[in-house]
Amino acid sequence: MKIASILENQKIEKRIAITPEIAKKYISLGLEVSLAENYGSHLGIKDEEYKELGVSISKDEKEIISSADIIVQLGLLDDDKSSLLKENQTFIGVLNPYDNKDKINDLVKKNINTFSLELLPRITRAQSMDILSSQANLAGYKAVVESFAHFEKAIPMMMTAAGTIPAAKVLVVGAGVAGLQAIATAKRMGAIVFATDVRMASKEQVESLGGKFLTVEGAENLETEGGYAKEASDDFKKKQEELLSETLKKIDIVICTALIPGKKAPVIIKEDMINNMKLRFNNL
Ligand code: NAI
Repeated sequence: MKIASILENQKIEKRIAITPEIAKKYISLGLEVSLAENYGSHLGIKDEEYKELGVSISKDEKEIISSADIIVQLGLLDDDKSSLLKENQTFIGVLNPYDNKDKINDLVKKNINTFSLELLPRITRAQSMDILSSQANLAGYKAVVESFAHFEKAIPMMMTAAGTIPAAKVLVVGAGVAGLQAIATAKRMGAIVFATDVRMASKEQVESLGGKFLTVEGAENLETEGGYAKEASDDFKKKQEELLSETLKKIDIVICTALIPGKKAPVIIKEDMINNMKLRFNNL
């Protein structure tokens, strides 16, 4: 059986589906792996590294797709390549199914076995395939690292004989997987961290990481049975806006991770709220 992957649209996607480590695992399972030329070169992975493992590398992406049984990508293929997919091939990716319904329906109509990994049940047995958690964890960490790199002052409290600089104050909106990682990372680097969420269960989790939880006054718990958030009512949104508008005046950095599964992310931080923040980064 042949498993293959071609170059992603690198303007929007730097990740790759098959790293050398993964290729090695596929080969040890008896699969043939074929990849496009320069598949991982933007990440410092040379074609030779793959070739040494027994991966076949080719310039001809169309041929790679048509001869594969399984194609693994991050995103959907461009139309000219997607049209090459044929019956009984398997296409696996992070396909953003709610936004790409029509394109995915086209694949299903052609009897292409299509798996979007975001929809994989997040059960214990499937944890090693839970791309939402692994990527959210990294995103939470990276949001802190990148925002701290822009911050023009110190993050932890700095006490020197010449004076004291207070610790930076960070607000994390949405305390799911990404938010909790952001809180933990910001705390480790010495920031004072505040967080809010619509799921009351997250209060204890925020506090266990040393964050201060902000509760929207009179809010009901907006958690579904599956552990996700429900869309908030207009009344809740108004109260949350009031709470965050006031809080943001004292905050240096805000990281927003709030999501509702299958919907556009709620826009919680508005422009006027940002304009009221203490310090704006000149270069953003
Ligand atoms: P998510 O990515 O869908 O949402 C991120 C966070 O935004 C959630 O905590 C949500 O409550 C919050 N949010 C949504 N609307 C908001 C609003 N208007 N204001 C403030 N916050 C808002 O969720 P994620 O991070 O994927 O996980 C949610 C839950 O699922 C967590 O309890 C997590 O522990 C649980 N989980 C369970 C797993 C398992 O059982 N294997 C795996 C991963 C997560």
